[in-house]
Amino acid sequence: MFELNNLLRNNIKNLTPYSSARDEFQGEASVYLDANENAFGSPLDTPYNRYPDPLQYKVKMRLSEIKGVPARNIFIGNGSDEAIDILFRSFCNPGVDNVIIVPPTYGMYQVSANINDVEARKVLLTEEYQLHLEGIAEAIDEHTKLIFICSPNNPTGNSINRDDIETLLANFNGIVVIDEAYINYSRQKTFIQELTEYANLVVLQTLSKAWGLAALRVGMAFASEEIIEVMNRVKPPYNVNEASQQLALEALGNVAQVNAWIKETLEQRDKLVLTLKDMAFVLDIYPSDANFILVKTTDAKGIYNFLVEHGIIVRNRNNVELCEGCLRITVGTPEENDTLIQTLQQYK
Ligand SMILES: Cc1ncc(COP(=O)(O)O)c(C=O)c1O
Repeated sequence: MFELNNLLRNNIKNLTPYSSARDEFQGEASVYLDANENAFGSPLDTPYNRYPDPLQYKVKMRLSEIKGVPARNIFIGNGSDEAIDILFRSFCNPGVDNVIIVPPTYGMYQVSANINDVEARKVLLTEEYQLHLEGIAEAIDEHTKLIFICSPNNPTGNSINRDDIETLLANFNGIVVIDEAYINYSRQKTFIQELTEYANLVVLQTLSKAWGLAALRVGMAFASEEIIEVMNRVKPPYNVNEASQQLALEALGNVAQVNAWIKETLEQRDKLVLTLKDMAFVLDIYPSDANFILVKTTDAKGIYNFLVEHGIIVRNRNNVELCEGCLRITVGTPEENDTLIQTLQQYK
């Protein structure tokens, strides 16, 4: 049986969170002398002298409308990387607990585990880049708190079979974290709508990819009210700054632009695949549900260096298990993709 209280670290269960000035008085007042701010303003055209809303209410209300999820089920972090770290700090006792990761996958799960002194048990994906359910079942023990699944997966680009993820959600008594950073590009449905079904589900999304706001550092976790409440207690009081909150809110009003870019990115991706697949050094291009493609080549290092010499940077994944010979290429603008293709045509 999934029981949140049994999963939480004791120190977090008993934590009295920091109570900020903005927590202690909510509402409108004419004179604010409670937070030791500079009352005169900021040496900028726009004032930023007041602390931001610790719970990012306005951004959550807008996200709630867009995602069809109540605001109380949304956590906002300084990037989804912060949400990943907060999950470790909330649930994993350093040196005691473990998590399961399924490489090749996004590198921050391992790094966050290392920072928090938590063992990350690796269960490699299959050759088809799908979950190895038996391997995962064998790796789970009574100290396994979290399983990280990235879908669509970085760096492979494919989505993970939905039925397999549901099998984990239904059978694992810890938390299944589904990282949907690339979901806006995917043919697959988000898991957000399953929050009412599974108490042990956390879905991560971000404004860094399709929303084009990587520099603002705004990422989301969607989960049960109880899990969100824990994450809010553990997070730094003002984790999302005021400029990011204001700009995110403005950007979230522009869904049409984002949808147009998604459509164009997918068209460009398909075009890129068609051109690349006929090149002599390309051995395989893996099916992608994201805004990048994983390309298996005869000489990843040689091609990578050749591209760098021509001012084009892709990601060399040659040293990643199950990605030998692979380059991960982000889909760019039509002009950038043309430059890439023209340059690759000169590679001998
Ligand atoms: C799968 C995945 N999750 C999360 C992130 C980080 O997102 P954020 O910018 O919201 O921290 C990335 C960034 O590359 C990613 O690929």
